[in-house]
Amino acid sequence: MLTKIKDLAQALAPRLIEIRRHIHSHPELSGQECQTAAYIAGVLSSCGLIVQEAVGKTGVIGELVGGTDERLVALRTDMDALPISELTNLEFASRHPGVMHACGHDVHSTLGLGTAMVLSQLGEALPGNVRFLFQPAEEIAEGASWMVQAGAMNDVTAVFGVHVFPSIRAGSVGIRYGALTAAADDLEIIIIGESGHGARPHEAIDAIWIASQVITTLQQAISRTHNPLRPIVLTIGQISGGRAPNVIADQVRMTGTVRTLHPETHASLPEWIEKIVSHVCNTYGASYEMNYRRGVPSVQNDLALTQLLEESAKQAWGNERIQILQEPSLGAEDFSVYLENTPGTMFRLGVGFKDKLNYPLHHPQFDVEESAIVTGVVTLAYTIYQYWQHGS
Ligand code: NI
Repeated sequence: MLTKIKDLAQALAPRLIEIRRHIHSHPELSGQECQTAAYIAGVLSSCGLIVQEAVGKTGVIGELVGGTDERLVALRTDMDALPISELTNLEFASRHPGVMHACGHDVHSTLGLGTAMVLSQLGEALPGNVRFLFQPAEEIAEGASWMVQAGAMNDVTAVFGVHVFPSIRAGSVGIRYGALTAAADDLEIIIIGESGHGARPHEAIDAIWIASQVITTLQQAISRTHNPLRPIVLTIGQISGGRAPNVIADQVRMTGTVRTLHPETHASLPEWIEKIVSHVCNTYGASYEMNYRRGVPSVQNDLALTQLLEESAKQAWGNERIQILQEPSLGAEDFSVYLENTPGTMFRLGVGFKDKLNYPLHHPQFDVEESAIVTGVVTLAYTIYQYWQHGS
């Protein structure tokens, strides 16, 4: 079966590159993926899949009907682009000013379509059904929730995901056991003091100074009160307050992002942060408002499915092209939303050039070595096929 899958994928390579370039030159922002969705729906229909459009706003689902094994596999790929002006000079560069597929979601969509094309050609040899999820709005970390709320994960017994990775050479895949990405939450703190003359601090409550104490205490307390093996990144990215050089500020607003890997640490954070904020504010007579918004959880790859993926990828490409990733990323990825009730695993597909500079994700000159598309399609199609060969 592996040889057959490889042959099918190889034969489709020119068509897949054409698809990737088409999607790349017509990028659409999160939640606005209408043309992309219609294009994807068209390709899926032409392969004989049952297609559902406008799932969770602009998402698309393609259902491929296989044999009688009741275990239903889902493959999730994302479709949205970023508000970046492309500077690659590629002939198929973005035709939409200020919008660019700089995170490789054009490749992800192509991988979803390529896997659907390959598996749809297996005919009766496909043991069960596969659901292809083409998700909108990953970049704003909302699309996965839209899809799940629309029922996209109903009856799914395993879900797979993939993200391109420029620092791994094309032809190789990166596999990670356990946490792949971090939970990302949003934080807003408003410190409310009392205004006064800049020369008479004892008659006022200086919100700027108290805000600086809050930030310092938070950063120090992370290092002294948390398990260092369970990292926390707390970044205050925005701060504003005050009206004039000689007037003590009565209010400061700060916003930030909080990243964690460990679910228990993630759960404990809002209370922990509020304790520090309230303690500092009480000490100096200020009051505060705090808003903590839970973002996406950490992607935690399922052990058995990751082993299946590793085994399948090794059979397909040999041990030397499989990298077991030693470190997670503190970036966020809403694939984790699919994992809340279903086991799954996501891997990193190497797209790095051999003899050309590799720009990072979200860079205006980001590009991929397109030969990686076949690597990705074979890895996904063969892993999905192998899923039914193993006991549940
Ligand atoms: Ni991405």
